[in-house]
Amino acid sequence: MQICVISGSPKGERSVTLQYVRFLEQAFPEHTFSVVHAGREIRNLERQEEAWNRLLSTVAECDGVFWATPVYVMLVPAQLKRFIELIDERSAAEVFSGKYATAITTSIRYFDHTAHAYLHGVCDDLNMRYTGFCSAHMQDLESEDFQEQLVLFFSDFLEAIAERRPVQRAFPPLPEASAPCALKAPPAAVDTRGRRVVILHDAEPGSSQEAMVRHLAACYAGPVQVAHIRDAGMKGPCQGCCRCAFDNTCIYDDGFSAFWKEYVVPADILVMAGTIRDRFFSAAWKQFFDRSFANGHVPAFKGKQVAYLVEGPFGHLATLREVLTGLAEMEGANLAGIVTDESGDIAAALYALAERSVRLADQRYIAPVTFPAVAGHKIFRDEIWGGMRAIFKADDRYYRQHGLYDFPTRDYSRRIATRVTSLAMSIPAVRRDVVRNMPDYMVQPLQKSIESSRVLEERRRRR
Ligand SMILES: Cc1cc2nc3c(=O)[nH]c(=O)nc-3n(C[C@H](O)[C@H](O)[C@H](O)COP(=O)(O)O)c2cc1C
Repeated sequence: MQICVISGSPKGERSVTLQYVRFLEQAFPEHTFSVVHAGREIRNLERQEEAWNRLLSTVAECDGVFWATPVYVMLVPAQLKRFIELIDERSAAEVFSGKYATAITTSIRYFDHTAHAYLHGVCDDLNMRYTGFCSAHMQDLESEDFQEQLVLFFSDFLEAIAERRPVQRAFPPLPEASAPCALKAPPAAVDTRGRRVVILHDAEPGSSQEAMVRHLAACYAGPVQVAHIRDAGMKGPCQGCCRCAFDNTCIYDDGFSAFWKEYVVPADILVMAGTIRDRFFSAAWKQFFDRSFANGHVPAFKGKQVAYLVEGPFGHLATLREVLTGLAEMEGANLAGIVTDESGDIAAALYALAERSVRLADQRYIAPVTFPAVAGHKIFRDEIWGGMRAIFKADDRYYRQHGLYDFPTRDYSRRIATRVTSLAMSIPAVRRDVVRNMPDYMVQPLQKSIESSRVLEERRRRR
């Protein structure tokens, strides 16, 4: 069989992910693997028709498409995102239609599931027959147990092609884009009380996104900085070289870092506005997110209120919602809100967002995080301490200075208490008592906290 490997890594042959493909190539010598470097060659594919047509004929001739890509900032790299946009812009979906498809990623398995859900949705939209994915940790190939699983994963894909296995669509088609919304100027404006409001966007003139950005800016009485991300003057997308790991310095000498320092760093309220292209924000936004990797694995929006304005069928894109909310949480911000142009009174929603963002910024409210940020922190903590810190020196410094190496093994009083409880539990009478009164033991410390709460005392005094 002919397998077309669409490689998303900007590193081409030096890609970690591609080594997994090379392994499979040796495991299945009876099949032919043709690798197209969509990530590395994205500039050529955009500019040279010949390169684009060559790639399309490799897809056209194949029996199955094998997406092989690293996970970059919770999705695929901006380069691969751009490639997927080109398929639509150049009306090339027909070439992909009906092909069997599968995907492999390498990563440290932080938001790998969103990258896979995105690729799955894209395959469904291209009318491909998506058979499943393999999410590998970047070092998994070193294990022979994993190698065996990898062979089984790929055998299943080959069998699906051979037996023309029926495949159901998982992600329903997205609704058609609606007409741009028109918004009248807000009747009043919210006093920003000295809070710095920044709105970053990539709006096209005359679009709903532009209307929402303008309207939201007018909802604030104080000065608002509005900037198009194109003004960051990025010379190109992240190359995945990790030069930034040592001291957060990127290989690009362009405007990105100055733009970040001018707009993102000082913002108390940071609003990011985007238009949905396929199933995510634009490749330009993705490039912006990828380039922010140079800041390291540290909470880059710490203490800020973050909000999003979305043009397009956001309500149908659970994965995009997960990425946007996950990004805000993981970067240490509070998600003040998301306003879309899909339905309802958009102007009222924008005004409410302006009011809420200022109030929450004043109160310094940061919502307690949920599973993705709790899990994300533990993944980063363990990966950085467990090996990455040899290279990611800037992260290591930050983690030490901010107490982020918070392993439970270092909580000695808790360990002693656990040991004592554990020993006590070997006494049958104690165990019987604990089992009988478990709910009481669980609420007792909380009841004590309520009784001795200084927060409650303060509120009672103020009443
Ligand atoms: C810009 C950038 C963003 C990344 N974002 C993520 C991420 O969100 N989740 C993750 O688990 N790994 C992330 N990684 C790690 C890569 O996925 C991992 O190193 C991968 O194996 C690189 O594959 P490649 O050599 O094929 O490009 C990121 C790496 C870079 C350079």
